[in-house]
Amino acid sequence: MLGIGTDLVDIDRFREVLRRTPTVADRVFLPSERAYASEAVDPTARLAARFAAKEATLKSFGVGLGAMRMSEIEVVKQPDGRPEIVLHGRAAEFASERGVARLLCTLSHTDTLAQAVVVALGS
Ligand SMILES: CC(C)(COP(=O)(O)OP(=O)(O)OC[C@H]1O[C@@H](n2cnc3c(N)ncnc32)[C@H](O)[C@@H]1OP(=O)(O)O)[C@@H](O)C(=O)NCCC(=O)NCCS
Repeated sequence: MLGIGTDLVDIDRFREVLRRTPTVADRVFLPSERAYASEAVDPTARLAARFAAKEATLKSFGVGLGAMRMSEIEVVKQPDGRPEIVLHGRAAEFASERGVARLLCTLSHTDTLAQAVVVALGS
């Protein structure tokens, strides 16, 4: 195991961020993530969980905001429901340079909070 990261997002605060600055959603989320979120009664809960997963991934790498684009970290929904982290661009290069072979991710959300835990594994 190379690293572990977690993040907790207050859904109403995140809703307010998206309301005030709608371009945040375009910068942070991929179309696939927005499409999946839009199927929910409250899409913001799923978006907040995905934002938490992106921050947890940065933490598992031992870096912070600015090290890579949030849109380079994608949360992909598997057919059985499990979330999987897929990296693109600089984020994929970074992981490869650091010997990260696999990322494990788990998400949870209630009406008020969204949480993610990410574990970075070497080969
Ligand atoms: C998996 C399950 C127990 C989670 O229930 P929950 O407590 O209501 O949901 P939480 O808010 O804690 O977590 C929701 C997140 O769990 C994750 N999840 C869903 N199914 C999952 C699964 N099979 N394995 C791991 N994670 C799963 C998803 O990331 C989901 O969030 P998302 O839809 O925004 O991606 C529930 O969805 C369930 O029973 N599903 C149907 C049966 C199933 O898939 N069983 C497991 C395989 S046999």
